[in-house]
Amino acid sequence: MFVLTLLQVAMLLGSALAQFNQTATYLNLTAISARDGESILECWEVGPIIKSSVPGTSGASSLFFGETTNATYTIIPPRFDGGLHTAPAVQLVFFVAGLIHVSLPNRTDEAWVQGGKYGLIIAADTANISTHGHRTQYPGNEATVALQVPFASTGLKYGVLHRGACNYEEMAFL
Ligand SMILES: *[C@@H]1O[C@H](CO)[C@@H](O)[C@H](O)[C@H]1NC(C)=O
Ligand SMILES: *[C@@H]1O[C@H](CO)[C@@H](O)[C@H](O)[C@H]1NC(C)=O
Ligand SMILES: *[C@@H]1O[C@H](CO)[C@@H](O)[C@H](O)[C@H]1NC(C)=O
Ligand SMILES: *[C@@H]1O[C@H](CO)[C@@H](O)[C@H](O)[C@H]1NC(C)=O
Ligand SMILES: *[C@@H]1O[C@H](CO)[C@@H](O)[C@H](O)[C@H]1NC(C)=O
Repeated sequence: MFVLTLLQVAMLLGSALAQFNQTATYLNLTAISARDGESILECWEVGPIIKSSVPGTSGASSLFFGETTNATYTIIPPRFDGGLHTAPAVQLVFFVAGLIHVSLPNRTDEAWVQGGKYGLIIAADTANISTHGHRTQYPGNEATVALQVPFASTGLKYGVLHRGACNYEEMAFL
């Protein structure tokens, strides 16, 4: 219990101390995180976005997320209810296509995600920090396609912009 509290304090300090460069550009994305043992939605900024020097995308904007592992490509049928669950790992989930509704038990927060350019979220409410997790529903008439990419280590630096999902204006700079 004491150790967990220390870890949580360290995590909080870690995110608060992540000094974000005022002149740099960050990517805002919705994260499913957890506080006090239950899942919450937050708008995170991650980055910075830099100019790529990699052949093929040289000069384009890019963001290195760090080491990842065991990526999974998933095709979810139309009108599917994923039910209440915790994140299997701290992972990027890129919804390539489809319509996704994320809700939280006994809370009114929700996130609507449309597959495509603004379809990237982070699912971080693993079972060790969230008792009930979140519910994901796919109410659209078309299949949802998702790429799930777990982080290999827990070094992701992020800033919390606010509680609740990011809104369109916060993401739509691209
Ligand atoms: C902040 O970001 C700007 C623009 O990306 C960059 O030129 C500058 O070197 C960065 N400063 C620090 C201290 O990282
Ligand atoms: C990779 O993901 C699959 C599907 O979720 C899982 O069965 C497998 O155990 C995972 N492998 C590793 C090394 O995490
Ligand atoms: C919870 O488990 C995940 C992996 O499932 C791990 O990355 C994370 O560090 C753990 N968090 C705590 C607070 O123990
Ligand atoms: C939601 O609230 C109901 C009634 O207050 C309670 O019985 C239930 O356990 C709660 N569910 C969760 C997931 O917290
Ligand atoms: C992220 O959100 C912050 C705060 O609303 C905003 O200043 C910033 O421009 C946004 N970043 C992008 C890349 O849109």
